[in-house]
Amino acid sequence: MISWDDYREDASTTETPAPEIVKATAETMIQDSPTEPSSPEKPSEPTPFEPISSNPVNANPASTSPEINPTSGMLASTDSSAPQDQSTQPLVGNHDAAAAAVASMDTSVGLQELESSSQRIQVDQKRMINCRADLNQLVPFKYDWAWQKYLDGCANHWMPQEINMTADIALWKDEEGLNADERLIVMRSLGYFSTADSLVANNLVLAIYRLITNPECRQYILRQAFEEAIHTHAYQYCIESLGMDEGEVFNMYREVPSVAKKASWSLSHTHSLSDPNFNTGTPETDQELLRNLVSFYAVTEGIFFYCGFTQILSMGRRNKMTGVAEQFQYILRDESMHLNFGIDVINQIKLENPHLWTTEFQQEVIQMILEGTQIEIEYARDTMPRGVLGMNAQMMEEYLHFIANRRLAQLGLPEQFSGAQNPFPWMSEMMDLRKEKNFFETRVLEYQTGGALNWE
Ligand SMILES: [Fe+2]
Ligand SMILES: [Fe+2]
Repeated sequence: MISWDDYREDASTTETPAPEIVKATAETMIQDSPTEPSSPEKPSEPTPFEPISSNPVNANPASTSPEINPTSGMLASTDSSAPQDQSTQPLVGNHDAAAAAVASMDTSVGLQELESSSQRIQVDQKRMINCRADLNQLVPFKYDWAWQKYLDGCANHWMPQEINMTADIALWKDEEGLNADERLIVMRSLGYFSTADSLVANNLVLAIYRLITNPECRQYILRQAFEEAIHTHAYQYCIESLGMDEGEVFNMYREVPSVAKKASWSLSHTHSLSDPNFNTGTPETDQELLRNLVSFYAVTEGIFFYCGFTQILSMGRRNKMTGVAEQFQYILRDESMHLNFGIDVINQIKLENPHLWTTEFQQEVIQMILEGTQIEIEYARDTMPRGVLGMNAQMMEEYLHFIANRRLAQLGLPEQFSGAQNPFPWMSEMMDLRKEKNFFETRVLEYQTGGALNWE
């Protein structure tokens, strides 16, 4: 909690808390990798806090001190090939010109494109797509579910370095630790996910964001984009901790057919929307946006993530690779919220634009779900050539049929796999960490950030 009583703006107060921050960081780093104490990135003991000098010469006294031009106050270049500044006069701004420019500003610039720009926003003006109302004004809220998901996402904040990977490192390096089938699952999972979350993040910021014309939904999309960055960070952290060949893992989505097919299918649906000239506003282009939302939220995050998540979490339940499994558990919690947000967005667009949800288009969406399910079944077969971790490809196929039925039902479409059952009921419990705090034997924290101001 931040207390304003302790807050000082003078520099003298900054020296007190700094050693604690350095100590905590060093402890965390040591805890994460005790088997590698000599790593240059991990100091063997906390270093005392030294304020960083704003003067680069003082910051590194061992270096050769560059000369400073006494007139300009700038560092003199020692590179004779670098462009030379011919002026010996210091750069001085024109204060009068700045004041005159501000005084004559035209404040309507940039606002003309907004309909009724001078009027206050009415909640009825807000729409998911093709909205002409001012998108810079967050309130009044129309879609409370989107704002609530933004708040929930922030409350669930976590970082990969908080998870202890010690046992995983020892197990991975022990040749007897995991069998070949289990190692294949770890490699394939990290191979697919290390780039998949980048594909999702790119689709969010380069395709979806500008086309969803609602500020509370955009607020959640921004939060989701950051969570995707954390997920990519988590996979990188696992890969680095385990000492894997980074090139092999990160390039797997181009080299291993069952991984490449998933990535390629997702990418094919980003293509048209990421064109800066693409805009919604016709039934055809609005449907193209819906295709993108279905492919990323319902299929990529709603189907393609499930085989790998189930495999890794099953490993964690057997007390193997518990750090990786814990990372995946937090990611799964985030992903289930991304999926639910995407389903809500699609259904809201349908509600506001019923003319888009034609029988023909519904048929197309069903086919997309079926294609995604088939691709994930092939991935399951490739990663589980025989039974492993109490499961096999056939059980995963049944599970994916069950998942596909759920996605179809969430979109208001008929189930396509009659009677499919869930062979892994523990997976749904995994998505709610609060019920499962002691699921693994490793430390599992309930993450709830405490940055809110308390005025009492
Ligand atoms: Fe993600
Ligand atoms: Fe996601």
